[in-house]
Amino acid sequence: MKARSITRLFSSDLAVDLGTANTLVFANGKGIVVNEPSMIAMNVNADEVIAVGSDARMMRGRTPRDVISVRPLRDGVIADFKAAEQLLSYFIQKAHNRKVMVRPRVVIGIPSGSTEVEKRAVLDAAYRAKASEVYLVEQPLAAALGAGLPINEPSANMIVDIGGGTTDIGVLSLAGIVYAQSIRVGGNEMDDAIIELLKREHSLLIGERTAEAIKIEIGSAAPLPAAMSLPVKGRDLVSGLPKVVTVTDSEVRTCLQECVQVIVDAVRIALERVPPELSGDLTERGIVLTGGGSMLKNLDKRLRDETGLPMCLADDPLSSVVAGTGKMLSDFKLLRRVSVN
Ligand SMILES: Nc1ncnc2c1ncn2[C@@H]1O[C@H](COP(=O)(O)OP(=O)(O)OP(=O)(O)O)[C@@H](O)[C@H]1O
Ligand SMILES: [Mg+2]
Repeated sequence: MKARSITRLFSSDLAVDLGTANTLVFANGKGIVVNEPSMIAMNVNADEVIAVGSDARMMRGRTPRDVISVRPLRDGVIADFKAAEQLLSYFIQKAHNRKVMVRPRVVIGIPSGSTEVEKRAVLDAAYRAKASEVYLVEQPLAAALGAGLPINEPSANMIVDIGGGTTDIGVLSLAGIVYAQSIRVGGNEMDDAIIELLKREHSLLIGERTAEAIKIEIGSAAPLPAAMSLPVKGRDLVSGLPKVVTVTDSEVRTCLQECVQVIVDAVRIALERVPPELSGDLTERGIVLTGGGSMLKNLDKRLRDETGLPMCLADDPLSSVVAGTGKMLSDFKLLRRVSVN
């Protein structure tokens, strides 16, 4: 018993948000120690990892022919099992300053409604990455806890987490999930829509990084107070030569409309399905928005207009899930209750 409490004292436990776009790791007592893109660069010939995280992202779109960059997660779930394991094990080691002997307990946030096969994939990846115990918790609960919502109270809270691959909607009460829905639309799909827009309207080929930059700079879900535009560099589809075109906020807004509407509709459906008693709570408390995608300009306004409910953007939308899983590390009773494996 004593030995156990001593090991706990030097505990190396970690909380992980294994996201489609970004992976964050929280270490007990230290805070967020890893915050990097979920990406690895591989040499296809030698089947060898060349770079992970930020380094791999730097290489994206600029790699020699035999180097490919891989996103191990797609639509919020593991799509490339081996790559996910390599990503996790690299970040776990990094979180421990590469001390290979450490075998941490790990809490991982997964999308609500993950299938058994999807859960198994995350568990296996974490165990192979040398975790000693692994707990899976549903992201809406973690995000709500991380955003500071009183999840233990009997009144309802609604959280909408717009990530890279998915939008997760959760209605929570008494530390449980009353309603959850995960739709496979998020920031990545918005980037794809922008790539298509440039192709269609400007005959310009651009990469994902440029598309994301356009979205962040001038993308919006409802008209902006002042018009904005941005010069965009890419390759002319016809001549094959480098070219610069100017893109406006209004054309970007139009091309994002479809993705935004899917998110708005999912929120409306969630509101219709909440038990009536809890609906009343939501009119007062409103909805908390989190995840990187929630920072799309005027998305909060659009949702407010469409639902008539107050919207509140989480303080740090990119780290709500990891902050919540981090809190669970030090509340083992809660962790036991909410873990889904
Ligand atoms: N200011 C911004 N405006 C619009 N989108 C943004 C902004 N900042 C980040 N994003 C987008 O947020 C997404 C990443 O968010 P986040 O890190 O929450 O996703 P994730 O947790 O990795 O993905 P998922 O939860 O779907 O697995 C990316 O698509 C990114 O382009
Ligand atoms: Mg996420």
